[in-house]
Amino acid sequence: MLDLPSEHPATSYVLHVNGADRPVTDAWIGESLLYVLRERLGLAGAKDGCSQGECGACNVQVDGRLVASCLVPAATAAGSEVRTVEGLAVDGEPSDVQRALAECGAVQCGFCIPGMAMTVHDLLEGNHAPSELETRQALCGNLCRCSGYRGVLDAVNEVIAGREAASEAASAPAQESAEADEARIPHQAAPGAGSVQAHLQDGGMA
Ligand code: FES
Ligand code: FES
Repeated sequence: MLDLPSEHPATSYVLHVNGADRPVTDAWIGESLLYVLRERLGLAGAKDGCSQGECGACNVQVDGRLVASCLVPAATAAGSEVRTVEGLAVDGEPSDVQRALAECGAVQCGFCIPGMAMTVHDLLEGNHAPSELETRQALCGNLCRCSGYRGVLDAVNEVIAGREAASEAASAPAQESAEADEARIPHQAAPGAGSVQAHLQDGGMA
């Protein structure tokens, strides 16, 4: 009997997600990254809003680039660094972007927020102080049916201000200590300066 190729060829591979190796075994080769993250790896942060690259709810980063995970075949991401919304937390706490989104009223039903948070992180990684226009352009692929986007724009501004204040606070002690060190170093007088000889040379008139 003729051995026909399967219509659904399976494959096994390892995804590297949020710093950990996550093996995927015997999976249909056409499964999307979104499907594998949610259904096989239990990472349900990325949401399935449209399955066709239109809503941004499924956004994740692959090798530092923002992608719609519903459009990426998971097997092609093997060997790449995948970062999902679950990887944004720092020491188990929500990131500054996630906190700002909540504090600025951007979170209503919350469905779009994981993708929104990934987009804002991605934006601020490449541009530390985006203008409102640049922020709007970055967010144009993220649809929200609830909040009207004002809260998201405010959240971005809050994060920018918070990061600037933190970096100024971090550099201030270093600057103070540099000034203190300078104050402690005695300035060496130029040869002959202040000596009796100088006065003798100018006839004691200086
Ligand atoms: S679910 Fe991927 S863009 Fe909408
Ligand atoms: S908060 Fe509901 S879709 Fe954005």
